[in-house]
Amino acid sequence: MAQINPSILSADFARLAEEAKAVEGADWLHVDVMDNHFVPNLTLGVPIVEALSKATATPLDCHLMIEDADRWAPLYVEAGAGSVTFHAEAAAAPVRLAREIRAKGARASMALKPATPIEPYEDLLPELDMLLIMTVEPGFGGQAFLDIMLPKIRRTRELISKHGLELWLQVDGGVSATTIERCAEAGADVFVAGSAVYGAKDPAEAVRALRDQAVTATETAPWACGH
Ligand code: DX5
Ligand code: ZN
Repeated sequence: MAQINPSILSADFARLAEEAKAVEGADWLHVDVMDNHFVPNLTLGVPIVEALSKATATPLDCHLMIEDADRWAPLYVEAGAGSVTFHAEAAAAPVRLAREIRAKGARASMALKPATPIEPYEDLLPELDMLLIMTVEPGFGGQAFLDIMLPKIRRTRELISKHGLELWLQVDGGVSATTIERCAEAGADVFVAGSAVYGAKDPAEAVRALRDQAVTATETAPWACGH
């Protein structure tokens, strides 16, 4: 199953409720939280996530690009997020944090920046509901997709199969009509798209088109045979 998560980073922040409605067929709404320390950009925090969760029926997929994730991530669950992603590079105790997120009732997810390898985290994977592989350096929308991340996506998919895990594999950054098939073929099954959705004339149609492309590419992908 291919899921498409539009990133509201590319939406109009003054009209967030309407922008959420414009992509109601999406699986999740991707919310990028940035603190101007972990990444050189500042976006939004707990109060806006809380307001947005009341304004849309689409579940929120909060991507925390912030330092001190151990302290803040649980507050995003309380604010109404259905999935909370912390960065491996920003969590002091990722196992404890993932367990806390799950215990509070959300899906627990961990993200890796482009230069962070997956291999040291192999034993942690059963603690997670999703693993996010960044396909750009985090911080800004509209950047070019990093093809050099495809081997990491493949290796992660192999680890998921090897351990028989129900772990979603998300890609984020530069995902568009020209790159989504490569991601799906390599093993991703959750796709974040900011500019490719909100930059389109019809965002809802862009979501459908991206999902169709991902589903078709997955059908012929070696990793998905028999799924
Ligand atoms: C970047 C954010 C992404 C961003 C993606 O740091 O994590 O979610 O919104 O935007 P596009 O799809 O335009 O690369
Ligand atoms: Zn993101």
